[in-house]
Amino acid sequence: MRTAASSAERLSTHRGMLDRSSAAAARSSAPIRASGVGSSKEGATEAPHPASAQAASRAGRSVRAASMVKVYGDRGIGSIARLPMSTATETVLILDFGSQFAQLIARRVREMGVFSLLVAPGTPLEKIRSLGAKGIILSGGPASVFEEGAPRCDPGVLELGIPVLGICYGMQLGCHMMGFEVSPASHREYGRAQLDVRDHDGLMHGVPARTTVWMSHGDQVKDAHGDLAVLASTDTCPVAAVAHRTKPFYGVQFHPEVTHTPHGTDILRNFLYGACGCQGNWRMADFLERESARIRADVGTDRVICGLSGGVDSSVVAALLARAIGDRLTCIFVDNGLLRNGERDLVESTFRGAFDVDLRVIDASKEFLSDLEGISDPQEKRRRIGHRFIDVFRMAAAEVGHDARWLAQGTLYPDVIESGASLAGTAANIKLHHNVGGLPSELGFRLVEPLRDLFKDEVRRLGEVLGLPPQIVWRHPFPGPGLAVRVLGEVTEERLAILRDCDEILLEEIVSEDLYRATSQVFAVLLPVKSVGVMGDGRTYDSVVALRAVTTEDFMTADWARLPYDVLARISNRIINEVKGVNRVVYDISSKPPATIEWE
Ligand code: XMP
Repeated sequence: MRTAASSAERLSTHRGMLDRSSAAAARSSAPIRASGVGSSKEGATEAPHPASAQAASRAGRSVRAASMVKVYGDRGIGSIARLPMSTATETVLILDFGSQFAQLIARRVREMGVFSLLVAPGTPLEKIRSLGAKGIILSGGPASVFEEGAPRCDPGVLELGIPVLGICYGMQLGCHMMGFEVSPASHREYGRAQLDVRDHDGLMHGVPARTTVWMSHGDQVKDAHGDLAVLASTDTCPVAAVAHRTKPFYGVQFHPEVTHTPHGTDILRNFLYGACGCQGNWRMADFLERESARIRADVGTDRVICGLSGGVDSSVVAALLARAIGDRLTCIFVDNGLLRNGERDLVESTFRGAFDVDLRVIDASKEFLSDLEGISDPQEKRRRIGHRFIDVFRMAAAEVGHDARWLAQGTLYPDVIESGASLAGTAANIKLHHNVGGLPSELGFRLVEPLRDLFKDEVRRLGEVLGLPPQIVWRHPFPGPGLAVRVLGEVTEERLAILRDCDEILLEEIVSEDLYRATSQVFAVLLPVKSVGVMGDGRTYDSVVALRAVTTEDFMTADWARLPYDVLARISNRIINEVKGVNRVVYDISSKPPATIEWE
C-alpha cells in the first residue's frame, strides 16, 4: 500500500504544485492544445454541483449537444426574466443569426473590455434602442438571404445611427437590406484565404496589405458601387470588406472572431474603439461592485443558501455572496463519499478559513454508499445519487432558518443562452443542465444567479479578483456523481480507496510536470477487470486502472492529451508500486466523439 501521508499534508503538497503549475502555464504557451477552429463554446462544466447527477444524465447531455442547433425567429423575447446589468456600461449587441461562432464574437468583444450580449435577430427596434448599445454586430449564420424564412432583423437597425458591423451572413444581409446586390455562390468557399487590403483607414487600420482570413460562405456581395466602398478583397471574393460612405455600416465576408484570422482582433478593435467610440471600461472589479449592490438590493435582509461543490462556479458564487452579504450567507457542502482525496479539506479551509463563511459540511457518505450497494448500471448510479443529494440538501437547507428564502446558483451565460432564456432566445432546446432545472423549484427558493451574464473565462477572472486560490480558480471539472462513475461496476469503500490513491498520484505528476493547465480534464478510472502480473517472485491477479487526460474547449468534443511517454511511464510505475491491488495501467487514447470523456 502506498505510504499514506496525512490528507492535509498531501493537500498542501498538491496546492504548492498547483500554484507552480498555474504560474508556469501563464508563462509558457500551453504545450498541449485542443484542436479545432475557434470553438465558440465556453467550457461546459466546472466541477459540477452534485445536484447535476440527476439532471446532467447522459440523456440530458446529449440534449445539450442538440441544443446547439439554432432555429430562427424572435422566440424568447417575451421570456426575458430581467434586464442584464449591461445597461449600466458600454454594451455591444450581437444579433445572432445562428452562427456557430456567435458566442465567440461575444467573448472577443468582452476580451477587449466591452460588454456584449447576444440577442435574437427579431428583437424589436424599441428593445434594441432601450438597451442603449454603442454598437451592433450582425453575426454570421448558415442561411442565404435568398431563402424563404431566412433570419432577418428590422431594417431600422441600420437607421439607428448606431455603428453596425456585419460578419459573413450579417454583411450579406446588411448589404441586401440596403439594396446592394448579393449573388448566390456557384460554390461554397471554406477555409483560409489571402486578403488584399486596399484601404488602411478605419476598419482595416493596422492590418497588413496582405493577410490571412478565415472564410466560410456561400453567397457574397456582388459588387460595390455608389455608397459602398470596398476595403479589401480576395481572389475569389472581390468584395470581402466594405464600409458605407454615409451610414455607420461595415461588413466583412470573413470571420474576424476566429484565431485563423490573425488580424481579426485588430478589425474588431477598430470597430469597437474607432467606429463605436467605446472606451473598453468593462472590468471585473466593476462587475463585482455592481453585482454585489444588486444582490444586496434583491435579497434585502433575507438569508441566502449556496450549495458548494468545490468547483469554480459554485466557489465563485459563494465568494461573491460572502463579500456582498457577509454573514447572511450559508453554504452547504455535501460530502457524498465519492470525492477525491483532499477535496473536502480544500473547501473547508478556503471557505471557513479565508472567507469566514457559515459553512455546513454534511457527511452523508454512508447514505450514498449504501444506496450504491450492488449497483453497477451507470444511469442507476446517477439516479440514486441525484435523489439522495436532493434529500440531504433539502434537510440541510430546512435547518438553516426561516429567513433563508434564496438559493444561489452558478448558472453561466452559455447555460442561459442554451436554455433559451437569454435575450438571444434562439436555441432550439429543452436543455437539462444542472444549473437550469431540478433542484430549485423543488425546494421552493428564489434564485440568485450572479454569474448568468458571464462566460467561463470571466468567472475564473472574477474568482481571481475575489481572491480565491488558484487551485480552485483553475480547477478541472469533476462530475456531480463523483468517483461513482469512475469506479466501473460496483462502488465499494475499498474500490474507492484504490481509485483515490491512483488519482492522487496521477494529479501529483501532472501538476508537477506543469501539465495541469495544458490539459482540460485528467483522471483515473478503476476498471472492473483483473489481469495477471508478476511482482517479485510471485504471480499477481489484480485490478487494471485506466488513465484519461483530455484537451477540449467546450467538453462537447475532446481529444486525448498527448502526454509525454516518460510522464506516463512515471505515473504507471508509481501507481503499480504504491497502490496495492493494481498491477496494470493503461492510457485511454479515444477522442470524443465517438467516446465520451467519462467512462460511464
Ligand atoms: P462526457 O463523459 O459526456 O462528459 O464526455 C462531459 C463533461 O461532463 C462531465 N460529466 C458530468 N457532470 N454529472 C455532471 O455534473 C454527470 O453525470 C456527468 N457525467 C459527465 C464530465 O466530467 C465532462 O467534464
